[in-house]
Amino acid sequence: MTAKHPPISPKLPALLHGGDYNPDQWLDRPDILAEDIRLMKLAGVNAVSVGIFAWSALEPEEGVFTFDWMDELLDRLAANGIFAWLATPSGARPAWMSEQYPEVLRVGANRVRNLHGMRHNHCYTSPVYRAKVQAMNTRLAERYANHPAVLGWHISNEFGGECHCDLCQDAFRTWLKGQYGSLEALNKAWWTSFWSHAYTSWSQVESPAPHGENMVHGQNLDWRRFVTAQTVDFYLHEAKFLKAANPELPCTANFMDWFYDLDYRVFAEAVDVISWDAYPTWHAAEDEKNVATWFAFNHDLFRSLKQKPFLLMESTPSLTNWQPISKLKKPGMHRLSSLQAVAHGSDSVMYFQWRKSRGSSEKFHGAVVDHAGHEHTRVFRDVAELGETLAALPELAGTMPRVETAILCDWDNRWAVNDAQGPRNGGLHYEQTVLQQYEALWQLGIPTDIVGSNDDLSGYKLLILPMAYLLRQETGAALDRFVQEGGTLVATYWTGIVDEHDLCHLGGFPGPLRETLGIWAEEIDGLYDHERNRLIVAASAEAASDSGGNGGNGGRDNGNSAAAANALAGEYEIRELCERIHLEGAEALGVYGDDFYAGMPALTVNRRGEGQAYYLAARVSDPAFYLAFYGKLIREAGIRPVLDTVLPEGVTAQLRSDGEHDFVFVLNFSGREAEVRLDDADYRDAETGEALSGKLELARYGARVLKRTARG
Ligand code: GLA
Ligand code: ZN
Repeated sequence: MTAKHPPISPKLPALLHGGDYNPDQWLDRPDILAEDIRLMKLAGVNAVSVGIFAWSALEPEEGVFTFDWMDELLDRLAANGIFAWLATPSGARPAWMSEQYPEVLRVGANRVRNLHGMRHNHCYTSPVYRAKVQAMNTRLAERYANHPAVLGWHISNEFGGECHCDLCQDAFRTWLKGQYGSLEALNKAWWTSFWSHAYTSWSQVESPAPHGENMVHGQNLDWRRFVTAQTVDFYLHEAKFLKAANPELPCTANFMDWFYDLDYRVFAEAVDVISWDAYPTWHAAEDEKNVATWFAFNHDLFRSLKQKPFLLMESTPSLTNWQPISKLKKPGMHRLSSLQAVAHGSDSVMYFQWRKSRGSSEKFHGAVVDHAGHEHTRVFRDVAELGETLAALPELAGTMPRVETAILCDWDNRWAVNDAQGPRNGGLHYEQTVLQQYEALWQLGIPTDIVGSNDDLSGYKLLILPMAYLLRQETGAALDRFVQEGGTLVATYWTGIVDEHDLCHLGGFPGPLRETLGIWAEEIDGLYDHERNRLIVAASAEAASDSGGNGGNGGRDNGNSAAAANALAGEYEIRELCERIHLEGAEALGVYGDDFYAGMPALTVNRRGEGQAYYLAARVSDPAFYLAFYGKLIREAGIRPVLDTVLPEGVTAQLRSDGEHDFVFVLNFSGREAEVRLDDADYRDAETGEALSGKLELARYGARVLKRTARG
């Protein structure tokens, strides 16, 4: 049974609607500040984020604090029933600070210190910067932590980047000592006997540099882990002084889509609520599916990080100013894009930003209020309409999907697989491989979690492991247990190659999963872009595998469902990567069609304990394969799609439930009008209450939220 989570803030038990509000850019225009409140009410805004880059407005000179404008602002918001995420201003420093204390400025990997400027340009280690943050945050917290308008803390902004100053080098060495205990252990883990790289003193150890060490994979991995640790340590330093004044107020840090540089699974443990900033490049192609699935995947990732609803902290109400092409959202897309976030677990739709800046680099970035300054714009109307929709759906806050399927992706695997010089330096495509699996589940309307090796896997029926190149022994053991206990595991090529130090598993790949998968991967062939191979799945193999499945579809007839719509038997195109594998207990379901390994297994299944472990040895490029393959697996595992129906291409169905009612989101990213045949449950439109059955018509970019009695 899906339990409902309490609202993110008890002050506002509803979906949040609003965005970044920067009145510090308009302090000389009281008329505009008053007008903002009128417009916010018109747009159905109930929450804003304030003070994000306001350091120079809050401390114009060292030790001189000016909180009057913030006092007035928060009082005015409270008086008008609008709440605020109050930011700490550390995302950008005032010029006086950089001038007086150059150590606060970041040093690049090339060991050159940045000049003052930009934002996100500070050293996370600098004692001076930490002291300045402490002074500021302590004052903010003492003054505002119990203010009625304040929902919680928005700490800094989009943490990211790294610093290579001497202070950070020392911190890196200290962190390494904590990890390894001795130089001998570090030398072993980094395989420093190669190219005579052995260290004889800690002082010789440095961060990677373009003009120094950068090919020691274990070192690169540890540097990335350290950067995460140091960033999170800085975040916790900020939070400490906020929590001191009111431990109840939640703290968040706005994340970015599947951000490469920080391990968000580590960061997630430090924050109270996940929030993130989504800027889809809609209309880059006629078919919105690639963009839609990337953002769907990200929403699922951010929900999975804490297994709780998250906040969409920023999105643009129209266009951005930094993408290669700034497209206007076509009619319907604002609602579709916003409801997509809600469908996957967001309890908010927030924007960057409320009012367009008059000057500097973001003056043409989309905002709710245009330079024209009034509400009579297309964008304002879109936003106000969405405000009405969100206000009509307060029951959604705190609800979660029922999830039986997960994709496992670790950050350190991503770093390692991309760092290694290996089978295809001309495009290894790890992320695309992950998305290839995800897209099929999205199209089939299967709610999916995105999990890491340390997460509890026991609740899932199907677990997908795309290119798990870095795989720890203990993860292998956990996955084996998962299979033995009845789970279905799918692993792909280039899995189980190295351990946590990027040292190869000896004795045969896929290392810790060799027995579980019942195969030995002897070698991997990188294909040139123009080369192709084929996966051939015989009808008999499919039948054999069906009869060997564990439990069919639980007695439920979903014969007309998407899951059953595609038969697996057939031929599928392969590109880029082909492993030559040998059966060691597994059974071949498909074989290579071409090259000197034609006839060798390319798709296998190993029955083990109560479960089964599939291995896909080659990069099948044909989306039809993934639909058929995962369709078969979810049918056999008894996993129920959101709707028992075949969804048109580019249309997905997602779900949130409070245990009593299911909210079914039907989202049309096909770029055309579409029609979805509902299954035979009783549906109502969650916004209007209208009873629905039979065919559901979806406009181009249409999005509907349906309500039904919860399924068990
Ligand atoms: C990021 C930042 C915002 C703003 C937007 C523009 O998400 O957090 O301050 O610059 O980008 O899209
Ligand atoms: Zn530094």
